[in-house]
Amino acid sequence: MKSTRVWIVAVFVVLFVAGSMGPVLAQEDRMIVPLGSFSINPPSEGQRSAVQFPHSAHFDYSCKQCHHKWKGDEPIVGCMTQGCHDLEQLPKKEAGKKIDPALRIRYFKNAFHKQCIGCHRQIKLNNKKLEMTRAGIEGRLPATGPTGCKGCHLPE
Ligand code: HEC
Ligand code: HEC
Ligand code: HEC
Repeated sequence: MKSTRVWIVAVFVVLFVAGSMGPVLAQEDRMIVPLGSFSINPPSEGQRSAVQFPHSAHFDYSCKQCHHKWKGDEPIVGCMTQGCHDLEQLPKKEAGKKIDPALRIRYFKNAFHKQCIGCHRQIKLNNKKLEMTRAGIEGRLPATGPTGCKGCHLPE
């Protein structure tokens, strides 16, 4: 009788410990996601102030909206990673030739401006259309982010 009771307790202890362990993750299966706000800095001394970016305020979007190369099973890397938007300057134009668009977007400033300002501007445009089509209707328009320089490059 006594030994059955000990066995039952032992089984419960094992189940409890196993249940609380969770999945076994290797180090490379984890990533640290910056919450709240952080600053995005140019790779070297910039002309404008660094941009204070409210990361979490954007979490209604899919992560892949911005981290567009992310497959989901490896840690997310920064935008200026080598081979991505890693050019510190727009490459010089060769006489009579246009700059290759693939090089243009490797220039970090173009990449950030296209994505950040591009989305905020699109929402503003959509809001303008909404305003025109629903004259007199109550309700708030979708929130948007800044499109003017000083909205992102806050005065120092
Ligand atoms: C609106 C765009 C946007 C969205 C949406 C977004 N992020 Fe980010 N995230 C960024 C930017 C910009 C950075 C800064 C990258 C840099 O410094 O080069 C960043 C940085 C990160 C980093 C740090 C990368 C590093 O350099 O080590 C992680 C991790 C991350 N994001 C995870 C996520 C996850 C998870 C989600 C979805 C829940 C998400 N992000 C949604 C724009 C976004
Ligand atoms: C896909 C769309 C999208 C992209 C990409 C995006 N934003 Fe936004 N952003 C928004 C929306 C929507 C809001 C309004 C959020 C709110 O107030 O709830 C916002 C708000 C902001 C705000 C103002 C937050 C506040 O407290 O008023 C800043 C600053 C900002 N974004 C910076 C950036 C920067 C910098 C990037 C690029 C790294 C970026 N955003 C990329 C959609 C976007
Ligand atoms: C929606 C946010 C946003 C807006 C609006 C914006 N920028 Fe930026 N800008 C960024 C981000 C993010 C970077 C890359 C990180 C950094 O350099 O701080 C950047 C980088 C830059 C850079 C290259 C780095 C430097 O400081 O020299 C310049 C120059 C610049 N922006 C000028 C401007 C000007 C001029 C305007 C207005 C016409 C403007 N930006 C509007 C987000 C924005």
